[in-house]
Amino acid sequence: MGFIEIKNLAVHYPIQTGFFNRVTDYVRAVDGVSFEIENGKTYGLVGESGSGKTTIGKSIVGLEKITSGSIFYNGKDVTNKARQNSAKYADYNRNVQMIFQDSMSSLNPKKRIIDVIREPIHNFLNLTPQEEKKRILELLNIVGLTEDALYKYPHEFSGGQRQRIGVARAVACNPKLIIADEPTSALDLSVQAQVLNFMKNIQQEYEISYLFISHDLGVVKHMSDDIAIMHKGRFVEKGKKQEIYTNPQHIYTKRLLSAIPEIDPKGREQHKRNRKRIEQEYKNSEEHYYDEKKRVYDLEPLTETHLVALGPNGKGGD
Ligand SMILES: Nc1ncnc2c1ncn2[C@@H]1O[C@H](COP(=O)(O)OP(=O)(O)OP(=O)(O)O)[C@@H](O)[C@H]1O
Ligand SMILES: [Mg+2]
Repeated sequence: MGFIEIKNLAVHYPIQTGFFNRVTDYVRAVDGVSFEIENGKTYGLVGESGSGKTTIGKSIVGLEKITSGSIFYNGKDVTNKARQNSAKYADYNRNVQMIFQDSMSSLNPKKRIIDVIREPIHNFLNLTPQEEKKRILELLNIVGLTEDALYKYPHEFSGGQRQRIGVARAVACNPKLIIADEPTSALDLSVQAQVLNFMKNIQQEYEISYLFISHDLGVVKHMSDDIAIMHKGRFVEKGKKQEIYTNPQHIYTKRLLSAIPEIDPKGREQHKRNRKRIEQEYKNSEEHYYDEKKRVYDLEPLTETHLVALGPNGKGGD
């Protein structure tokens, strides 16, 4: 049993229209997903833009209201309880942090970096002001920034630097779970490797779990133990990393995997032909699971850990 369990999570946003702002429909941003993250492991979440990845992350840290479903943390029901100013959930709020995809809007523009990073330390750790400052400098150093960053404001940094500040803030109180929403997508390759290695190192040292959200299947493969493939608010396939990468079942998973560039020149022609075939198969099947009413089917187990959404013909996405 995972130490964080997400059960049938749904987040629907009301669409209001007309003069009276009547709710006429819902955006089903997340529409019934279940998964567990083990202690010290990384759960990778992959899917195209708008599939609902960030919404899952935000609902775990309490920034989106959950429409239905539940979240358990160490067996305790924390559904819609995060961020509540209650001592009862302080442990959850301290131990579950998020690195935000959009570093500009997630950092308070009126706060200097020293205060941005100090906030969680001050709220959750019992340190003297000197110790707080020492910890802040240590964190800046870890993410490759220097002391002169302390008294600057978020807008004075590049996107990549801001993302690193977000990493420093998220790890400040040694949390047990970090939701990492595209944590390195705004970084150059060299800095990206540096941040990812840092994340892996602290994971081993402190037994941190990650929900690692990314478009980049190469990065997800490098980081994750388990993976879920998301499409239009649902999971179409989930399993152990090996199961997903070596034995993908759903046509949408196959399509995402076939889009990873082939490095070996000898394999390139074959890769191109494969890609074309999968693209055609995807197009043919698309209408079935794009249909609002019957678009995705329940996940069926292939093994104890590998599950896939089967279409009416018993084939993934067909
Ligand atoms: N506050 C909101 N009100 C209405 N709809 C929203 C709101 N926030 C998100 N959505 C919608 O929910 C869906 C899922 O959005 P989400 O940001 O979770 O996707 P994502 O998978 O993180 O995409 P990306 O890869 O681009 O970051 C989208 O259709 C989005 O437009
Ligand atoms: Mg997102």
